[in-house]
Amino acid sequence: MKIWEDEKQCYIRAAMERNSAEANEHLKAELEKIDWSVLEHIERRETVNERGVFAPLEAVEISEIEERREEFYSIGRKAVSEGKVGAVLLAGGQGTRLGLDKPKGTLNIGIDRELYLFEQLIRNLMDVTDDVGAYVPLYIMTSNINDQDTKDFLEEHSYFGYPKEYVKFFIQEMEPACDYQGRVYMESDTKVAMSPNGNGGWFSSMVNAGLLSDIRERGIEWINVFAVDNCLQRIADPLFIGATIAGGCESGAKVVKKAAPDERVGVLCTEDGRPSIAEYYEMTEEMATARKENGDLLYGFGVILNYVFSEKKLEEIADARMPIHVVEKKIPYTDEAGNFVKPDASNGYKFETLVLDMVHMMSDCVPYEVDRNREFAPIKNLHGIDSLDSARELMRGCGIEL
Ligand code: UTP
Repeated sequence: MKIWEDEKQCYIRAAMERNSAEANEHLKAELEKIDWSVLEHIERRETVNERGVFAPLEAVEISEIEERREEFYSIGRKAVSEGKVGAVLLAGGQGTRLGLDKPKGTLNIGIDRELYLFEQLIRNLMDVTDDVGAYVPLYIMTSNINDQDTKDFLEEHSYFGYPKEYVKFFIQEMEPACDYQGRVYMESDTKVAMSPNGNGGWFSSMVNAGLLSDIRERGIEWINVFAVDNCLQRIADPLFIGATIAGGCESGAKVVKKAAPDERVGVLCTEDGRPSIAEYYEMTEEMATARKENGDLLYGFGVILNYVFSEKKLEEIADARMPIHVVEKKIPYTDEAGNFVKPDASNGYKFETLVLDMVHMMSDCVPYEVDRNREFAPIKNLHGIDSLDSARELMRGCGIEL
């Protein structure tokens, strides 16, 4: 059965009743291109995949990093200076919690001066490139929704001093969004409401965009992938890359010590012997509160969406299927009467794959501890936890003038 023949699909059918025959021919062609199997995931919601047996994973803690600083730094610095490290900025999200109608990276985080999120991230990267004396190729993932605005903004600001020839963009894929009953939303009478498909498909999107040859030609062996909204994070950090290489591992994840057993962060651990991230809602009370002999939490390190992956391994897993997460979001849509609705609260589901699920596809992963006051200031909301307010405070604590 075609999706528009399904009586349940009221938004599609209502739009079709209003459309001309010609518009409907175009719409049908578009609808036929979409893989509707994602809709089957609604019933399973967040229990996306059956989980195996979790076990703790020892982190490389700050004290060890200090002891081995020279070793890690010289290994990582060498990799960066030889051009073996690339960076991928995940900027395809919609930032719905912030309520912006432009790319999140264009947010001005300054108070008495202009300081854009993109600008701060590029500065953080340039701390490394200035130190090492070599540029790191920077790939920026956007979505159809924010691609042009992102490019225009960076162009307007001359890439904040980063050489343009080291910056490349690619667009991630989209998935349809639907209401809580699985009825696909229409953005307009001729267009399905599509949302970016999460941050997990970044490498296959890079491949689809033809960037694999660029990565290979440049000789990139390690890719540091990071979120757009953590304004304090270090990018292409030689110490982190050095620790991953020194550990003989395929991947590394920056982690922070959990502030409390019930902090809502995903914890890096193992699952059936492979590295994995247990989400806070997947942890039993016993797991979340268990402590080591020294009093530290057994599952004590949360991920901050800053990972390094072996490029070779990424190529191996590029076609692997990733678990689909069903995420509640605010989805603007055209209702059955033809009115455009911009909801104030979540009104349905988007379907996403997540970069954290890539970690489980690796044979190993180094949990690399960073000081949360110095490297973790995510901006998800305007106020409250993980907000512009809290990030500004953390930035000030790091001596950054705003
Ligand atoms: P979030 O999970 O915080 O999502 O993204 P978001 O879309 O930015 O914000 P909300 O949930 O709508 O408020 C974490 C990182 O992953 C990127 C984001 O840009 C951010 O850097 N991301 C997210 C993508 O690149 N693509 C996506 O489809 C989703």
